[in-house]
Amino acid sequence: MKALVAREYGPLDQLELTEVPRPVPGQGQVLVRTEAAAVNPVDLVLVTGGMRDALPVSHPFVPGVDVSGVVEAVGSGVDRFAVGDPVIAWTGVPSGAFAEYALVRADDSAVVRPAALDARRAAALPTGALTASALLDEAKPRAGSTLLVVGAAGGLGSYAVQLAKRAGATVFATGREDDLDYLTRLGADGVLDYRGENVAERVREWVPGGVDAVIDVALAGPDLATSAAAARPGGVLVSPRGGPAEFDCGVTAVYTGTTTPSGRLAELARAAAAHELHIEISAQYPFAEARQALLDFAGQHVRGKVVITF
Ligand SMILES: NC(=O)c1ccc[n+]([C@@H]2O[C@H](COP(=O)([O-])OP(=O)(O)OC[C@H]3O[C@@H](n4cnc5c(N)ncnc54)[C@H](OP(=O)(O)O)[C@@H]3O)[C@@H](O)[C@H]2O)c1
Repeated sequence: MKALVAREYGPLDQLELTEVPRPVPGQGQVLVRTEAAAVNPVDLVLVTGGMRDALPVSHPFVPGVDVSGVVEAVGSGVDRFAVGDPVIAWTGVPSGAFAEYALVRADDSAVVRPAALDARRAAALPTGALTASALLDEAKPRAGSTLLVVGAAGGLGSYAVQLAKRAGATVFATGREDDLDYLTRLGADGVLDYRGENVAERVREWVPGGVDAVIDVALAGPDLATSAAAARPGGVLVSPRGGPAEFDCGVTAVYTGTTTPSGRLAELARAAAAHELHIEISAQYPFAEARQALLDFAGQHVRGKVVITF
């Protein structure tokens, strides 16, 4: 099969589309014929070796953690999926989605794709929506609560804004000027340009004491203390980036990442299929241009997700 392969840790331009053996599903695994795969920041660092101590990979390495496609073969002990099922999956760090066939685990990280959700949008769901949900589990948005999303127009942030609104919170969101109308369309009650405004000061014009929770999903982003300053004393900052356990302003911090609680990916897929959850795809590349997709993702402004189609 053809796959996008990194032969060693190094720059993204080393990636090449080449022939590799088709994987064979082991116990509890499913082999998926890939229809679409989405690009995430983790793909870049796994290729370059930016997190090689925490997340080592073995080479040759095929990146890609978000995949949708059709079950081609099932391993032993798998009764949740059958050959021919359309599926959506998060592979986790083993990766492998940027290939004509990908291995996925037959557990809560994979679900049958609803008929009303096309493969392209489905691929753009797992990492972004699952991680946004995990962050919101800690931020606990609810009716009457206030929440700020920093980095709201990106892959995680776009879902975080929508899911927090669905939970009943009043949601504020930061983005660049060109993205502010988009963030309003996602449901944000107040939007601000992080490049032109002091975020904490502006948020306090809306909520004088500070918001109950801040979700910071900015890629490299501001110092987390700058984001925490928008929250009230006793409030919480939640982020997939690591940092201090608490800030001088009296805000505590929780750091978490992608999780796959039972039933969650199925519920997110159902909501997306029902158009209750919008999936924003800003760019789409054919598999033949997969390397360019990663190069562009690394170097250009992205709204929502970037998807590779097969
Ligand atoms: N630990 C985990 O399990 C896990 C899982 C998924 C993601 N993550 C991490 O979560 C972060 C977000 O992921 P993603 O997929 O949402 O990335 P993304 O799609 O690249 O979005 C990142 C967002 O950050 C914004 N941003 C960049 N610099 C900013 C700044 N100084 N202030 C405010 N916003 C800024 C970007 O806006 P502009 O485009 O306007 O610059 C963009 O909208 C990444 O660091 C990723 O590695 C961790």
